[in-house]
Amino acid sequence: MHHTPVLLAEVLSALEIVPTGVYIDCTVGEGGHTEAILNADPGCRALGLDRDTSALATARTRLATFGDRVRLANASYAFMVEEAKEHGFFPADGVLMDLGISSLQLAEEGRGFSFQRDDPLDMRFGPEGETLAEDVVNHYSERALVTILQEFGEEPRARRVAKAIVRSRPLRTTGELAKVVEEVLGRWGRIHPATKTFQAIRIEVNQELKTLHTGLAAALEVLKPGGKLVVISYHSLEDREVKVTMRESPVLRVITKKPIPPSQEEVRVNPRSRSARMRVSERLDGGL
Ligand SMILES: C[S@@+](CC[C@H](N)C(=O)[O-])C[C@H]1O[C@@H](n2cnc3c(N)ncnc32)[C@H](O)[C@@H]1O
Repeated sequence: MHHTPVLLAEVLSALEIVPTGVYIDCTVGEGGHTEAILNADPGCRALGLDRDTSALATARTRLATFGDRVRLANASYAFMVEEAKEHGFFPADGVLMDLGISSLQLAEEGRGFSFQRDDPLDMRFGPEGETLAEDVVNHYSERALVTILQEFGEEPRARRVAKAIVRSRPLRTTGELAKVVEEVLGRWGRIHPATKTFQAIRIEVNQELKTLHTGLAAALEVLKPGGKLVVISYHSLEDREVKVTMRESPVLRVITKKPIPPSQEEVRVNPRSRSARMRVSERLDGGL
């Protein structure tokens, strides 16, 4: 089972794919969006980046039939300018960023992204990361944990969760962490009470907001005039960063005044898409 690409029709229409177009999928994951881009026009080419080597291996197999029309590189999108230049994708007609985590990563043994498995607390997207979830959980101060849970997890009961984590140290596995959160928050409804905690720790481990900030600046540099920037975010801090960059950049024209959510039908078929929000801008002429 592949990760189901989110807002797929909306992404394709926003990119306005042209026959000789050159596209950068900053978060290629299992290649769902890239495959659809390459299928949209037989003349276009795509460069896919990902920090995750195992996601790239899946994408490589899936996209093999496209031959030279696709290039894949194990790199953070923070370095997309260098990667685009190296692989002949500079300047680009479109840049796509589909932030967050894939179903494959959630399901993969040993990654530590899911509270539904009992794995070591890792949560790094790529092996180069220096901080592990275990470091955050066992060594951050209670105060720092509260801030992370509030800001990156939007967890309204951050203080209680942070206190419980500190009291239960050392925590070694995702199962132990999920249990601590469940005990303190209780459980009702379909969404696991540790969802926000896991999201917050993952964002901290991977420094996702800082990287997004750098990545958006790189995207402006890589796009040609008229090129499209399409970003799908999964929580409000990410979305705010995207909104502010798009509004305040003198070299972008905002196309989506309000973010585009998935349709009710998409959420029904793929509940993981529920928090997705897509924003689109066009690169204007003029230097940076
Ligand atoms: C939601 S998934 C993308 C799914 C993909 N669009 C698909 O259709 O299969 C997000 C991906 O972004 C990757 N990622 C996260 N941070 C990254 C970064 N800084 N640079 C490149 N890839 C990153 C993750 O490893 C993950 O594979």
